[in-house]
Amino acid sequence: MKSIDSVRSEFPSLLNKDDKGNQVLYLDGPGGTQVPTSVINSVSDYYKECNSNTHGEFLSSKKTDDVMESMREKVSTFLGAESKECISIGHNMTTLNFSLARAFSKMFKVGDEVIVTELDHEANRGPWRTLENVGVKLIEVKLLKDGSLDYVDFKNKINDKTVLVAMGMSSNSLGTVNDFMKVKDFLQNHNALFLLDAVHYAPHFSIDVQNLGCDFLLCSAYKFYGPHIGLLYSKPNLLEKIQPERLVVQDQFAPFIIETGTLNHAACNGVSSAIDFIASLGKGATYKEKLVDAYIIIGKHEFELASHLYSELNKLEKINVVGQDFKSKKRSPTVSFVHDDLTANEVCQKLAQENICAWDGHFYALKSIQALGLEEKGGVTRLGISVYNTLDEIKRTIQAVSKL
Ligand SMILES: Cc1ncc(COP(=O)(O)O)c(C=O)c1O
Repeated sequence: MKSIDSVRSEFPSLLNKDDKGNQVLYLDGPGGTQVPTSVINSVSDYYKECNSNTHGEFLSSKKTDDVMESMREKVSTFLGAESKECISIGHNMTTLNFSLARAFSKMFKVGDEVIVTELDHEANRGPWRTLENVGVKLIEVKLLKDGSLDYVDFKNKINDKTVLVAMGMSSNSLGTVNDFMKVKDFLQNHNALFLLDAVHYAPHFSIDVQNLGCDFLLCSAYKFYGPHIGLLYSKPNLLEKIQPERLVVQDQFAPFIIETGTLNHAACNGVSSAIDFIASLGKGATYKEKLVDAYIIIGKHEFELASHLYSELNKLEKINVVGQDFKSKKRSPTVSFVHDDLTANEVCQKLAQENICAWDGHFYALKSIQALGLEEKGGVTRLGISVYNTLDEIKRTIQAVSKL
């Protein structure tokens, strides 16, 4: 494994300081991570060497075709997909999910049921709520006080009317990792589609869509060291069946059938480099093996820091850590808390004075914050650990929180 210093040297923004000379400390990864130099270079190199639209006869256009093909190939390996034809690209995860929902609105019937969860980001709730306009019933699985889903409730809610289960793999507000394999089992004798939101999961754990057995999986490259691009995996032949909204002049087959207009080719070139960056942290005979190994290393590093942060914050007076602990469960390295006397926003203002970047609020996972009764307190303060964070940074953060 590369040393943490070597990993950090790849991220130029980690050297930034505020005007008091405090080194920046990024714990805002769940809202978007920093990017390594290789990603920055790939974006700018694209403009220097390939800038063009696709499918032309001239060199820059052919280079752009190559950029897009190799990016789809890389994402396909990254997600364990059957082929690059399963990978569609969008502005972000939310836009892709809305496109899927519009397509389903023509397919689902009055009385059909779609299951979502109280823990999810609105990007995996709002699009499905629009189906109520065509008579589809939206069913919500309950969130328990410890930050986990109620799987008894989940199982009870699945029935012959269920046409789609749309759930997150990991919560961006609490760091819970959901038992999506259990839900897959619940669906065994049902004909429902299974869609996974991997946006908060993909930065921390390796993914194999074929093993997950999902029909759709969505993630966002800006959460795993890349540019602002949304990615959609669809099972082979599924996109053609659901007929997304599109122009008559565009390709009418996957993966292009759901992609509208000209894509952000430069950012897509950056996505390839982000995946290369992750692979460079691991060892293995194949690219996928490197990625899987890299995630074991990333997971161990992030878990150590996050579990230390969780247990130390838990000891502090007036600090109430929200969400599951790190003892037995698989857990994302995202730690949220509330302060007895300060709002989450006031906490973040104070942390910002020490150049610590942390987010406050509900992070669009509004229902989870409401279900835990935390909305009036301004939501939670969220500290998200990424591969470039160090134990010293975590100690500095604990010190800063203890002074609150
Ligand atoms: C769990 C989760 N799902 C979905 C989204 C939406 O992603 P995007 O910004 O790519 O639309 C986010 C963004 O924060 C997220 O954390």
